Amino acid sequence: MKFVLRSITCCLAALSLWGSAATAGQAGAANDANGSWPLAKQLWIQNCMGCHTATGGGIAGKVPPLAHSLGYFEQVPGGREYVMRVPGASNSALSDQQLADVLNWLLTTMNREALPPRFKPYTAAEVAAHRRPAYADVAPRRAALVRELQRRGIRNVAAAY
Ligand code: HEC
Repeated sequence: MKFVLRSITCCLAALSLWGSAATAGQAGAANDANGSWPLAKQLWIQNCMGCHTATGGGIAGKVPPLAHSLGYFEQVPGGREYVMRVPGASNSALSDQQLADVLNWLLTTMNREALPPRFKPYTAAEVAAHRRPAYADVAPRRAALVRELQRRGIRNVAAAY
């Protein structure tokens, strides 16, 4: 019975993922200069989605949302690096190119309204230069960035999640 329940939950998760992936795919297609979006999405599913959830909405009290939130970090000094150095990204099994692809996918499909006008996609070389070491002290760094965003009148990134 437990197994059946688990399969049902799994199918529901897959269905809702399929729905959001279809939308994201449409949104991303126009931006997809090198045709790597389906791969980036696959990498997200395998490496990040388990914690951050299919919609990128996060888990209250545990995991921050990435959708409609992450892009704002790109607007303040230090934010671009923060995104590469949080442990979930920095320590993932993804190669530098793959991490760049996943971050670019997240930012340009789930965060369009949050990005600065002149956002430049991450490159493998940039990720290689900055992803390590992973932050040992994420909370104070995140708090400082959120304070800076708020100082600039941007309140879309939750201080607590
Ligand atoms: C084991 C669960 C887990 C996995 C897997 C995971 N993350 Fe995270 N992620 C977190 C948690 C928890 C945080 C909050 C910061 C912290 O405590 O590290 C976070 C924070 C982040 C942040 C900063 C968001 C913010 O608002 O501060 C980014 C960016 C991020 N993760 C990207 C990724 C990417 C990309 C992947 C896949 C390569 C990934 N994460 C995989 C749990 C996870």
